[in-house]
Amino acid sequence: MIGIHCHNKPMTDYEPIPPPKNFHDQAEHSWTLPAYWYTDSKVFEKEKKQIFYKNWWYVGTVRQLSKPGQIFTTTVVDQEVFVIRGEDNVLRAFYQENFRGTRGVKDIEDFNPSNFGLESVRVETLIGLVFVNLDANADALTDISESMVKDMRAYCPRLDDLVLSKSYELQTAANWKTLVDNNLESYHSAVAHPSLMGLLDYSTFEVWEGRFTTCHAMTNSNLDNSAYKVDSKDSVKRAIYSWLWPNTAFFIAPGPKNLGVFQMVPTGPESSLQRWEFYFENEQPTESEQAYLDWTINTLIPEDTALYENVQHGLRSQGYSQGRFVINRNRPEWSEHHVHQFQTLVRDAIMADC
Ligand SMILES: [Fe+2]
Repeated sequence: MIGIHCHNKPMTDYEPIPPPKNFHDQAEHSWTLPAYWYTDSKVFEKEKKQIFYKNWWYVGTVRQLSKPGQIFTTTVVDQEVFVIRGEDNVLRAFYQENFRGTRGVKDIEDFNPSNFGLESVRVETLIGLVFVNLDANADALTDISESMVKDMRAYCPRLDDLVLSKSYELQTAANWKTLVDNNLESYHSAVAHPSLMGLLDYSTFEVWEGRFTTCHAMTNSNLDNSAYKVDSKDSVKRAIYSWLWPNTAFFIAPGPKNLGVFQMVPTGPESSLQRWEFYFENEQPTESEQAYLDWTINTLIPEDTALYENVQHGLRSQGYSQGRFVINRNRPEWSEHHVHQFQTLVRDAIMADC
């Protein structure tokens, strides 16, 4: 983004959040969200209620809840929720609030949520992954993600059969939107990711989107590259990176069948937890899968993390408030129109309650 200073000031606790100045529905004419939306605690509080309590939140894998009675807990920013498979084999989710100060739901024999007056939470599954939504009126996850999932399955056959092989978490000193913004544009790759540029052929770059999803795809350019080696017999020839509003991304990389899930968990106005999970055909990674994991965790993620934290540092600068989007729909590898799509959803969600 091209940054220029203008006058968007953080507000006091007593003022409503004003609409972002010069933010337009058309990316070509729009300025970015103002910098204080990435640092301000009042905006963060509003995002919790207007975004994270109303949209689909990634929990974990269905296999971790394969047997009746199995439980998985998650925290939707600050709301504790558990998902349980009932004796009738149906997945249900509930707020955990009622269990504070007790031994915890895991220790209760013959658990029956109706005996505890628990408030239920919506739960859905997608490609073997479990999501919850605190909003009873939200659109169904399968509806908003249908087209994205169809494309992911086309790029990685038998996607639903993959199993969790590796989990990785990293605290990051940046607002969650800084992470999403970065993941929705690719022009930073030429500077930030030299080895990724050897793995993928950016001249084959294609992007497309749904209302709440985006997809970026490109072909493997070189089997013998400095990121990790790809075999010509591997099933995935073309990478697809997808994003689901608000904070979950899916990575299918060139190589054997694989899925990476990247949840950008907000932990404060200027802090996030990167939660990564890697799914392969077997729990124990093969040598080539391990090489992919090593490169992703030791090279790719640190390269992006340095960017997130640098950008966040810049957002705190007195001299920066808003920038313009770089839009080039004919050369999507240089375009930020998906960043604008994301920021429009953020603006609309925040303004819906102002
Ligand atoms: Fe990156």
